[in-house]
Amino acid sequence: MLIAPSMLACDFRRIGEEAQRAVEAGADWLHLDVMDGSFVDNISFGPDICAAVRKSVGPAVFLDAHLMIDAPDRYYPRFLKAGMDLISIHVEREGKVDLHTTLQGIREGGAKCGIVVNPATPVERVVPYLAEVDLVLVMSVVPGFGGQSFMADTLEKVRFLKDGRERAGLNYIIQMDGGIGPAQAPVCAQAGADCLVAGSSTFRAPDMAAAINSMKKTAAQD
Ligand code: DX5
Ligand code: ZN
Repeated sequence: MLIAPSMLACDFRRIGEEAQRAVEAGADWLHLDVMDGSFVDNISFGPDICAAVRKSVGPAVFLDAHLMIDAPDRYYPRFLKAGMDLISIHVEREGKVDLHTTLQGIREGGAKCGIVVNPATPVERVVPYLAEVDLVLVMSVVPGFGGQSFMADTLEKVRFLKDGRERAGLNYIIQMDGGIGPAQAPVCAQAGADCLVAGSSTFRAPDMAAAINSMKKTAAQD
């Protein structure tokens, strides 16, 4: 199980050191939540801060940018330039944004690409994109804020994606994001998640290494 601490929960006064602290605590990836105040009701940070995190951790750490923005087609090149390894975009923008072209652009820019599905959106909506993505992100909270409660009914989507992957012979990573800590890791693993995003339960834990470890351990038990 890959654990991706979300920088949204870190101490923004010293984001570079916080990124480094997560890496030293055993983070597999770092998750960067980009919010534009329109697609979600919050504003977090943009490409310059992502580039600063890249500078702080060096080239070897895998950086995963989750774009909760109205115009991923307009902005993804700036996140490529900021050194992101993976960029994921929301399926809810289908119809307003050409998602196929955007995913392809991310790929051609040298990063991996992902598609994200909100709790209220049927998982079937991501099916047309499955053959062209490296990752599917199942939101287990309504995006916008850290520290919300895990919505267990989203596990059904993870099971659907796991079965579908096998049936179609695909190999996308299944990621979950929102309200996840050691208590939720086992059910996520059981449903078929490969990567867990965790903000509050990592950065706000008294001992981040212990929190990450415990998530990996409890996930492995199932
Ligand atoms: C929600 C973000 C999440 C969030 C997770 O909008 O996409 O990545 O930071 O935070 P926790 O783990 O605190 O729910
Ligand atoms: Zn996220």
